[in-house]
Amino acid sequence: MKNIKGIRAQFPILERVTPTGKPLIYLDSAATALKPQCVIDAVTDVLTNRTANIHRSVHFLGDEATELYESTRDIVAAFIGSEANEIVFLRNTTEGLNLVAKAFSGKGRIISSVGEHHSNYLPWQEHDVHRLSLDDNGDINWFELEQELSQGDVALVSLAHSSNVTGYMLDLEKLVNMCHSSGAKVMIDGAQSIPHTQIDVAKIQCDFLVFSGHKLGAPSGVGVLFGKAELLEEMDYWLHGGSTVESVTQHSIEAKNSPWKFEAGTPAIESVVGLQAAILFLLDLGMDNVESHFKSLSEYTSICLRENLPLVNVIGGIDKLQGPFSLTLPGISPHIVARGLSDRYGICLRSGFHCAQPLHDFYNVGASIRLSFWLYNTKDEIEQAIKGVANFINLVK
Ligand code: ALA
Repeated sequence: MKNIKGIRAQFPILERVTPTGKPLIYLDSAATALKPQCVIDAVTDVLTNRTANIHRSVHFLGDEATELYESTRDIVAAFIGSEANEIVFLRNTTEGLNLVAKAFSGKGRIISSVGEHHSNYLPWQEHDVHRLSLDDNGDINWFELEQELSQGDVALVSLAHSSNVTGYMLDLEKLVNMCHSSGAKVMIDGAQSIPHTQIDVAKIQCDFLVFSGHKLGAPSGVGVLFGKAELLEEMDYWLHGGSTVESVTQHSIEAKNSPWKFEAGTPAIESVVGLQAAILFLLDLGMDNVESHFKSLSEYTSICLRENLPLVNVIGGIDKLQGPFSLTLPGISPHIVARGLSDRYGICLRSGFHCAQPLHDFYNVGASIRLSFWLYNTKDEIEQAIKGVANFINLVK
């Protein structure tokens, strides 16, 4: 990334002093991304100057808040190549996946995979679901998918674009073509990929896409469900309350059109406005630049792991095009290493099953330690983290 110093300067948290007085090295962006100053400013501006509820009050503050909220819908739509009325604001990816899972209850068979995050695993428990196996890199078993589709009655295929453990990037165009030619709809969990990859739903032609704001620099509390207009229109809404209806009398209820019928109650207005600022920040940097920086950090991580931790198992293989990198460590708990990296070096990364326990189970590996980066990270930070992990492994040898 050109001007990485200038980019880092826009993330004030990178200036903070860690408990050991070391500079912060944040390699946990798959869990949540750091927030740029423009997002902090946008949220502060709403809280300071523009507090009002949306879609209700006719005073000028109500107008301004509604306009900011609805203009975010336009910006999200432009970001992913959809129409504005195809964008639903929910709390997060998990809520979007659950909403669609509920809508597809009793509609036919579901195909997913063993590699999914729990949020794309657990909502299907009550459905007739087939979970595809994975190859050693984390790709789905395409032959198995073809066989399952050919049996018919598949209502929906729901898969992650990129795994939050292996980083494997699914071929979306191939997936959608295959599924649509069998009459199955496709939902993409884009939570992990959208922070570093341009997704164009008009090009891919997926039926649903879900992602969370907090992984692309926005505050937590807002997620996006894209659904093709005709599908959203026919889907039931599950939360009933203010904002979901045109009119209610004692004898009748007239629901609003989508997307508004899905947004019950007062939404996370500040977070939605923050999402707008985060997307504008990314567009200003250029998604191509973000993606190539991400790929170059991934390439460097493979090299650095080979040099410093040759015996460590990387789930989904060491030669990845894109991170994150999840390592299972010989003879030491990943939680102890993660805690030690934080306490000793001010390095933050995640340990455990990363809410993808079935994936670890499938590969027959225990909990792992995960390095995940984003546009503000440098090769030097990755090297320090990997050398830090190596130090802890050497201690227990
Ligand atoms: N899905 C997030 C992660 O992978 C929370 O850490």
